Amino acid sequence: MAEPFIRICNLHQTFGKQHVLRGVTLDIFRGETLVLLGASGGGKSVLVKHLAGLLQPQEGEIWINNVNITGMNERELGPIRRQIGMMFQGGALFDSMTVFNNVAFPLREDSELKKDEITERVINALSIVKLAEHGDKYPSDISGGMRKRVALARAVVDTPACIIYDEPHAGLDPVTAASIDIMIKDLQVSHGITNIVITHEIRSVFRIADRVVFMKEGEIYWQGTPQELQVSKDPILHNFIEGIADE
Ligand SMILES: Nc1ncnc2c1ncn2[C@@H]1O[C@H](COP(=O)(O)OP(=O)(O)OP(=O)(O)O)[C@@H](O)[C@H]1O
Ligand SMILES: [Mg+2]
Repeated sequence: MAEPFIRICNLHQTFGKQHVLRGVTLDIFRGETLVLLGASGGGKSVLVKHLAGLLQPQEGEIWINNVNITGMNERELGPIRRQIGMMFQGGALFDSMTVFNNVAFPLREDSELKKDEITERVINALSIVKLAEHGDKYPSDISGGMRKRVALARAVVDTPACIIYDEPHAGLDPVTAASIDIMIKDLQVSHGITNIVITHEIRSVFRIADRVVFMKEGEIYWQGTPQELQVSKDPILHNFIEGIADE
């Protein structure tokens, strides 16, 4: 087995009286694609925000590449965040910036790269997501699927070791969703990137996942391979796969 790139140790998070993460412990291995499943509101987005130091846990620790990032300040987190690209739920593009400038943003923010190098990297990232021709457009002038791909280009432009995708398939037609999966898998296979993918798209699980983690009410309820998920007799997993609401 590869070594863990990320170690999540007994993570707890509360918002007011709501105990959202209830002791999550999980290793994410270098070069794997891990898919995070679970019902809405179970704490998936909150969990991954800790991995880039966007939230600090109440209790527990996060280790990235053998460094404990728990309690780090913004300056210390800079080099950590450069290792992790985040594709946020909803895209989080800047409406007032062109596609090109949205993708260039992380490069301009925290590096001493020359202008030519930034241009080259942005063009490269845009060609990975097949948007090289659309750099001058604004987010409002492109389709929802294209906006997702811009968010993906922005997540890869700084050549991170790990990319976190928070619902990259939501609202996409099946063909576009499948093309996103091809890109995600290619980033793993051709570039050695560690992928963490949150999705409700069960078909994608079987296309991209090496390992599946199912979260329920702030805890890890189950983990295994896609094949193990498919044959599981657990009624909660079974209902989730079949899309039956369980109350
Ligand atoms: N900054 C915050 N302040 C207060 N409550 C929050 C905050 N962020 C998340 N929560 C709460 O934490 C819970 C878990 O939210 P989270 O976004 O992690 O769910 P999720 O599993 O990603 O769901 P979905 O599949 O719908 O995206 C929700 O009840 C949410 O309201
Ligand atoms: Mg979420």
